[in-house]
Amino acid sequence: MKKAAFIFCSALVMGTVLSSVTGCGSLRQGGNVPALKKVFRDEFQVGVAFGTPMLEADQEPARQLVARQFNACTPENEMKWSVIHPEPDRYNFEPADAVVAFAEKHGMEITGHTLVWHLQTPDWVFLDDQGGPASREVVVRRLRDHIHTVMGRYKGRVTGWDVVNEALSNLPGGYLRDSPWRRAIGDDYLVLAYQFAREADPEAKLYYNDFNLEKPDKLASMLRLMDELAAQGIHLDAVGNQGHSHIDYPPAKALDNAIATLSGRGLKINISEIDLSLYSFGDKENRYPNGASREILATQAERYAELFKVFGKHHQHIDRVTFWGVHDGLSWLNFLSEFERPDYPLLFDRDCRPKPAFYALIP
Ligand code: G3I
Repeated sequence: MKKAAFIFCSALVMGTVLSSVTGCGSLRQGGNVPALKKVFRDEFQVGVAFGTPMLEADQEPARQLVARQFNACTPENEMKWSVIHPEPDRYNFEPADAVVAFAEKHGMEITGHTLVWHLQTPDWVFLDDQGGPASREVVVRRLRDHIHTVMGRYKGRVTGWDVVNEALSNLPGGYLRDSPWRRAIGDDYLVLAYQFAREADPEAKLYYNDFNLEKPDKLASMLRLMDELAAQGIHLDAVGNQGHSHIDYPPAKALDNAIATLSGRGLKINISEIDLSLYSFGDKENRYPNGASREILATQAERYAELFKVFGKHHQHIDRVTFWGVHDGLSWLNFLSEFERPDYPLLFDRDCRPKPAFYALIP
C-alpha cells in the first residue's frame, strides 16, 4: 500500500473504531470518495442488496451512499416467496415495488431474488386442502403460476433472475439437496422452474445461485447440474457464486480455481452476495461487541483486496459483483439466530463511512 494511502487508512480505522463505540461520526461520510461503480466500470457492475429497512426514514445516508456507489441491486428479501406471495390467493407486491422504484430512480440494474428456494417458502405451497402433501401436479401448477405472476409483473424492469437458489447439497458426495421442492415434484423441479421462467420473460437472464462453489464436491455438482440442465435445453446465463466469506475463508486460490473451471465451461459467473465476516466459520464468540479492532479491519481489507484481485483477473467472465448489504448496520450477519453479536462484513461502517476494506479496493 502506498504511504499516503496507509496513513489515510490508519486514520479511518481509528475513526471507525471510535465511531462504532460512540456512534458519533467524526470523519465524513462517503460523499467525496471514489464511486465503486466508476472504479470498476471497465470490469463489472458493482451491485448491492437492500430492502425496505433501507427505505426507512433514518437510512437517508444509506440511500445517498447507494445512489452514489452502486449501479446494480438485488432486493434482499422482498421477492422471496414468503414475502411476495404469502397466501395462495394473495400477492404482496408493495415491498418489492418500493425497492424496484428506488433502483429505477437511481438507474440501477435489478436482479430478482429468488423464485425457487427451500427456505422462505410458505408451507401452504406444498400442502393440500386437508393439510397432507399436495400432489406433484398441484405443486407444479403453483410453481408455474408464481413464476409467471412475479416475473410478469417486473418484466422489462428486472433484467435477470436468481431462478433457483441453493439447490445443491453440501454433503460430501451429495448432488441435489433434500428440499420440499424436490420431495413434492422430483428432481425435475429445476428444469420446470427454468422452463417457466423462460416462458414468463423470454428476454430475462436466468441465473442459478449458490454458495461454496469453491469446494471441490460442490463445484463438481455445479458442473453436473449445468450439464443436466443443458441436456434438457436449459442454458444458464450465469451462475451466481454468492461469496459470503470469512476472515480466513475461502482461500483466494480456491475461488480462482472455481471461477476458472466454470468460465472454462462457457459459463458467466456473478459474485452475487459478497460480504466478509470478521469471524471464522463456526466461531461462537462475541469478539467485537463495542466495535471492531484496527487490526481485524486491516486484515479484512487485505482479504477483500485478494478476493477482488481474483475477480479482476477473471473480469471478462464476471458481469457483476454484488455486496450483500449497504453498510455494516444493515447486514444480515447481525441477526443470525444462533449468535447475538454485531458483525462488520461490508465496505461501509454503521455511519456509512468507507472502511479500510473500501480503500483497499481503490487503485
Ligand atoms: O430485522 C429484524 C430485526 O429487527 C429482528 O430483531 C431480528 C430478530 O430475528 O430479525 C430481523 O429480521 C431478519 C432479517 O433477516 C435481518 O436481516 C429476519 O428475521 C430474517 O428472516 C432475515 O433473513 C434473511 C435471510 O436471507 C432469510 O431469508 C436475510 O435478511 C437475508 O440477507 C438472507 O439472504 C440470503 C439470500 O437470500 C440467499 N443466500 C444466503 C443469504 C444469507 O442468508
